[in-house]
Amino acid sequence: MSQLERRPLIAGNWKMNGLKASSAELVRIIQGAANVGAGADLLICPPATLIMSFAEAARGSRIAVGGQDCRAEPSGAFTGDVSAEMLADLGATAVIVGHSERRTLHQETDAVVRAKAAAAWRAGLTAIVCIGETRAEREAGQTLAVLGRQLDGSLPAGVSAANLVIAYEPVWAIGTGLTPTSGDVAQAHEFIRERIVATHGEAGQAVRILYGGSVKPSNARELMAIANVDGTLVGGASLKATDFLGIAAAYS
Ligand code: 13P
Repeated sequence: MSQLERRPLIAGNWKMNGLKASSAELVRIIQGAANVGAGADLLICPPATLIMSFAEAARGSRIAVGGQDCRAEPSGAFTGDVSAEMLADLGATAVIVGHSERRTLHQETDAVVRAKAAAAWRAGLTAIVCIGETRAEREAGQTLAVLGRQLDGSLPAGVSAANLVIAYEPVWAIGTGLTPTSGDVAQAHEFIRERIVATHGEAGQAVRILYGGSVKPSNARELMAIANVDGTLVGGASLKATDFLGIAAAYS
């Protein structure tokens, strides 16, 4: 399957940012989205506290709404946690799992991430599974080994284009303004594509692979031109409608 046949996805990860008043920024994104990136899917993942209001505001628009994490169990005595079913109940259609901030700050292993991805599927959500190497791992020449290990450990059986998106986010590129060279991105994405197909069969050809890490309007077009880059997962720049829409414009 060629890159042209995979519909690009521009996903915004708001992380722990946003209060009720942020709905004004969402409205700007919804309104602006009518004019940009017609060939792409657009997704905003606000904090859990805003999913319900964002999903209601975005209903009928081009903007889909997703969560940033879920617990694997559907319900139970897990104080403070949110299940995939709860996200779906609020109107989310996707959930990020295994973000490096979760893997690092909450000690999430590949097995935990795999269980969360399975939970997302159980609830009818698309799982956006994040993988990526640290700076030390890159400098040690271990990037592809790390990505292979994370893919093998984090993906449940039964992947499809509808239920899975992979986000390649080099940890050292997140929030730093640093990005890998185009060649390094191309190598990582080609490796990810081959690994998914080898492990999960031809369905892996249609799975979208996003690049994430310091994506902004000024570098989005160059990233999108790279083979097997089927969109982006945007952190900081997704908080501002003009920047998020500027990135989306690269995918028109
Ligand atoms: P930045 O775009 O702020 O570098 O964050 C990337 C990210 O972690 C998205 O999930």
